[in-house]
Amino acid sequence: MVMKETVKKYSTVHYRNYLGLDKILNAQELRSAQLDDKPAHEEMLFIIVHQVYELWFKQIIHELESVLELFDTDNVDEKNIGTSIHRLERVIEIQKLLVAQIRVIETMTPLDFLDFRNHLFPASGFQSLQFRIVENILGLPEDSRLTYNGCPYFSVFSEPNQEKLKDITTKSTLFDAMEHWLERTPFLQIGDFNFLEQYKAAVAKMIEKEEKAIKSSPYLNMHEMEMRLQMLGNTDTYFQSVLDESKHMELIEKGEMRMSYKATIAALLINLYRDEPLLHLPFKLLTCFIEIDDALTTWRYRHSQMVQRMLGNKIGTGGSSGFTYLRETAIKHPIFKDLHNISTLLIPRSDLPELPAEIKKALGFYYSSQQSN
Ligand code: HEM
Repeated sequence: MVMKETVKKYSTVHYRNYLGLDKILNAQELRSAQLDDKPAHEEMLFIIVHQVYELWFKQIIHELESVLELFDTDNVDEKNIGTSIHRLERVIEIQKLLVAQIRVIETMTPLDFLDFRNHLFPASGFQSLQFRIVENILGLPEDSRLTYNGCPYFSVFSEPNQEKLKDITTKSTLFDAMEHWLERTPFLQIGDFNFLEQYKAAVAKMIEKEEKAIKSSPYLNMHEMEMRLQMLGNTDTYFQSVLDESKHMELIEKGEMRMSYKATIAALLINLYRDEPLLHLPFKLLTCFIEIDDALTTWRYRHSQMVQRMLGNKIGTGGSSGFTYLRETAIKHPIFKDLHNISTLLIPRSDLPELPAEIKKALGFYYSSQQSN
């Protein structure tokens, strides 16, 4: 009796069934085997590498959607920030694999690829729905996307899938969620402490110090001195343009910035005072978004490099210019550029305004939202 039950349990959940291996392992149909006298040896690799990518994309979407859900609230629980970081760090690790995997496909030579490439038209990576879902959940705006042959990126999908993609962009993306969360940062003004005023004063002092150092340097000739002062002036103008709300709005209208003024200031505060215990997690979270963006850009760059090696200047099976288009996406498609640009606004720790004791206490581990009210 006992034996029978054990056998039953074993046969209902079996490694093969649980993992759906019959479906997965029989999903490699070589077009060269169907259409040519002889299957192309390398086509198996080509299919499996793409399938593995799509599985990882599925896992990435699973993680990103869950993080979006945790953030889709007016008051993000601190615990959820820790969980989000954990999940985003997993995404980053997967992305590293996705970049490394390009080496595997590069073991196929361009001549080997030609054994079956003609059977692929008009299929193309352009038709990877999951890749577009990842871009959309992260928050790649439609109007900053490159187009090819005047076609929008979604035109290659069925109507229901086009709807699905549109639906993601009309809801809150991770970029939006991060921006709103930053805008709610409670530490920009605590009691008499106004972060922005203190910071502006510190920047003015830092620039004055640098100006004095340039003017009194015994190593610079007149020309070099003038050049450096001019460059310092440009830095000052940049600081002012970001710190002045109306100038910030102008940059947003020109498309040179995307993140709101309030969110930018909050991100700056988090970066400058990240050593304070309560700002550790927010800093880690912002770093995750930067790393995800970087890894995606690295993948775009590596993919384009692999395509150049494989195709030279041939056009893609999806009809784009191939390498040129793909390389351009690496430059134009980063999503969290504004977080990278915060580095321009950082000043040395030695020039940072000292936080008043009660603020330091508020930023300690015993802070609770009631204390700031
Ligand atoms: C021999 C290997 C590969 C070649 C020659 C190649 C070539 C190309 C080309 C030329 C394009 C531009 C679209 C077109 O005109 O078709 C493209 C886009 C794309 N490929 Fe690949 N690819 C290869 C492998 C891969 C792999 C392994 C993946 C993994 C999923 C992938 C994912 C994509 C994606 C997502 C796009 C759209 C990129 C964008 O529009 O930003 N490709 N590929």
